[in-house]
Amino acid sequence: MQVTLNPVVINQARLLRELHHLATLTDCPPTTDASLPAPTQAVTRIVFTPRDLEARAWLISLAESAGFTVRVDPVGNTYIRWQGTDPDLGVVGTGSHTDAIPHAGMYDGTVGVLGGLEALRALKESGFTPRRTLELLVFTSEEPTRFGIGCLGSRLLGGVLDPATADALPDLLSEITPGAPSSPTASSSAKVGPQGTRLTLHDVRTAAGFTGPLTDVTLPIGYYHAWVELHIEQGPLLEREMLAADSALKGSGLSPSGGSRGLPAPENSSGKDGALAPERTILGIVTNIAAPASYRFIVEGFGGHAGALLMPDRRDALPAAAELILSVERHTLAANAEAKLTGQSGVDSVATVGAINVHPGNVNSVPSRVTLMLDIRDTDPERREHTMTALRADIANIESRRGVRIIEERINADTPAISGDHIVDTLTTLCEQEHVTYRKMVSRAYHDTSFMARIAPVAMLFIPCRNGVSHRPDEYATPESIALGTRILALALAQLANE
Ligand code: GLV
Ligand code: MN
Ligand code: MN
Repeated sequence: MQVTLNPVVINQARLLRELHHLATLTDCPPTTDASLPAPTQAVTRIVFTPRDLEARAWLISLAESAGFTVRVDPVGNTYIRWQGTDPDLGVVGTGSHTDAIPHAGMYDGTVGVLGGLEALRALKESGFTPRRTLELLVFTSEEPTRFGIGCLGSRLLGGVLDPATADALPDLLSEITPGAPSSPTASSSAKVGPQGTRLTLHDVRTAAGFTGPLTDVTLPIGYYHAWVELHIEQGPLLEREMLAADSALKGSGLSPSGGSRGLPAPENSSGKDGALAPERTILGIVTNIAAPASYRFIVEGFGGHAGALLMPDRRDALPAAAELILSVERHTLAANAEAKLTGQSGVDSVATVGAINVHPGNVNSVPSRVTLMLDIRDTDPERREHTMTALRADIANIESRRGVRIIEERINADTPAISGDHIVDTLTTLCEQEHVTYRKMVSRAYHDTSFMARIAPVAMLFIPCRNGVSHRPDEYATPESIALGTRILALALAQLANE
């Protein structure tokens, strides 16, 4: 049943002001690099650091002053709640994360949190009364930076991660590159705990004020009636489609703004903001999220003096690691090429070695140990496993040829998430009603929604981002496309809350 709403007005200025304020809560100095397009702010906000705690406190104060109630669970997942007239019904939820990897941008996650808050406020200001309770969830540690595994809060919430295993996860903060912030308390900024052991999630969350058993974090299936996460795309497809539509219109002699969708005219639809002219914004409706996996490999060789250890005697861990990295790339490219031969897109397999630690790390020492982190994802988890099998065969070969030992440790190997038909239909119908162009798409990035899908029907709404850039300080989405995504989110939440 269609809900009748008073006009829902997204306060774009307020939302942008808040996004910019949140970007100031960063462990990076103000960005002064003139070669980067404005507005740009490098953001590092690692979970349970002072900056993260500051951001949480500020968000809670915004939510409370808007009249919502707040609950924080033992891992720090924060529920901002607007109670419905029928609180016994399943809740309608939205949300995302505010933690940011080192030297990242200001829109990843934050658009879904502050956009979600703005959606709730705009609905409230329109006089809307929800039948089902509406909730905005701010997840703890979507990024894997500090505890080595992404989507920590949502994994626990969706029952995907064993609470005891989670509490024992080692704190990796001290291994993060120089410039990493200190921990929230003196005791947790130490590298080791009281018994000389390494700090764990349990130590760090407790020191940060998040106590209680992690078993309390899990939510039952049915708690959420529906879930929608708003997020920037983090890839180039929406923007490319906008550019293609734009040049087709130019070729036809029509004005590109001829298909306006009820948004205010842009003040500046070109120039520094590139192709993201708001009147041509395309939103993405996510039908599935690719399956991520991550592994740690430890290459153990034989170290020594860089001058005296003769080449025939070497079992250098670093060239062995280099071969492993190249093997990852080779097999991933091969997986894509093979998929293309069978008529598939040929871009669905991706793999990255994005972190490497060389021991002892001296210019005049032969490396004895290299630790590297592999992130591998695919829309088809079987193909991802196939790539891993090919990699393992190469690893066996590297070990025997080079006399090294390579230890593999699996951190996670997740299944893909599939959106709920009803949520996707709700979003597509609303886009059509509001004359908003959309495309259905795959999310190649993972999101907390990947794990919310274990307990609820879900979908995601994507906003285009400039040049498809993310996890970089120059990540950018136009204010108008953020406001448009927020508006569709608000309408969807209203629709779902009253069914
Ligand atoms: C999320 O940040 C991801 O790496 O996909
Ligand atoms: Mn991210
Ligand atoms: Mn994100």
